[in-house]
Amino acid sequence: MFNSLEDKFSVQSKGLLYPDVYLPGQVGWECPSNIALIKYWGKKQFQQPLNPSVSMTLQRSKTVISVEYFYQRKVKKMSLSYFFEEKQQPTFEDRYRQYLEHVSKYLPFLNHTELVIKSHNTFPHSAGIASSASSFGALALVLCDMERNLFGTLSEDSDLMEKASFLARLGSGSACRSVYGGFSLWGRTEDLMSSTNEAAISLNFIIHPVFSDYCDSILIIDSGKKEVSSSAGHRLMEHHPYAAARVTQAFDNLKKILVSLQYGKEQAFSALVEEEALTLHAMMLTSQPGYILLKPNSLEVIDRIRQFRSTMGMPVSFTLDAGANVHLIYPARLISDVKPFIEGQLAGFCQKGKVIHDRIGTGPVKFL
Ligand code: DP6
Repeated sequence: MFNSLEDKFSVQSKGLLYPDVYLPGQVGWECPSNIALIKYWGKKQFQQPLNPSVSMTLQRSKTVISVEYFYQRKVKKMSLSYFFEEKQQPTFEDRYRQYLEHVSKYLPFLNHTELVIKSHNTFPHSAGIASSASSFGALALVLCDMERNLFGTLSEDSDLMEKASFLARLGSGSACRSVYGGFSLWGRTEDLMSSTNEAAISLNFIIHPVFSDYCDSILIIDSGKKEVSSSAGHRLMEHHPYAAARVTQAFDNLKKILVSLQYGKEQAFSALVEEEALTLHAMMLTSQPGYILLKPNSLEVIDRIRQFRSTMGMPVSFTLDAGANVHLIYPARLISDVKPFIEGQLAGFCQKGKVIHDRIGTGPVKFL
């Protein structure tokens, strides 16, 4: 049928029959952030990953977006007003305008639509949590929902999710994984037939029940703006001396984590998650120029987590994104041991003692 999702969505969008009436409407979605366990680091072509990644979608850390739209066929341009936390935000507005212009190739009705987008996050701006995954996830979902309302297309939820994931990736790679709850995989691997570099797929059909209630307590070591953005970091992989070895490792780790997730091997899972986190930062350290996002307190916390694990023999591990904060990953059944450990031994190394307790979630929700 189609060789790629790119083909599919370009062709399908050309076949849409445009209603010749004025159609106003409203849609709203909330979409959670996600934490990668196998890391996406480095790109090829446009927004395609060098290697497949696996993530866990969170429950509490979300972006909430509502859109009021006014479609009129005879109007031949898109207009956008963007409000973040009730305030007009020109910098974000420009980024979203560029994005909308880009994706109008797959959603041509946007060129006849006025949009008023209102968005906020459920986590504080200063929390150091990357918001691009949840915000592009939510934005892609509202756009697909508009298409559904205007044309009656994407009526199956699975079709809506597939297109939303494809579109979210074009805004921010990690965002495509947030469209699904539980565990997601983004990137082509021979291990899963339906996997693709163009969108994420849900992994929930293979996940062992032991992973169903995993928690992510985010230790906020530093809530400041990162010195080197993720986009710049991805670019530094282009001429990275260890890029090829990293990609091979990521493919190997992917195979291993899929086995761990399927058969409930928690110890192996913990070891892989940490290896991925440390490799991500090793890539940063050895980029040219190299850079360090970890802070002394990140290392102190990591050291204590490792000690806790070896003394208690529990599957408690850490992961990192492209920043100094440490994500503590553990099953909910260990909360009564882990909470006192966080409060007694880790919170003191966090900025103002800040820890955000999140956990695996069921994915985006339509509220309007
Ligand atoms: C370290 O998805 O933020 O969090 O595609 O340029 O928006 P862009 O990058 P982004 O990169 C995320 C990198 C990471 C690892 C991950 O989430 O897999």
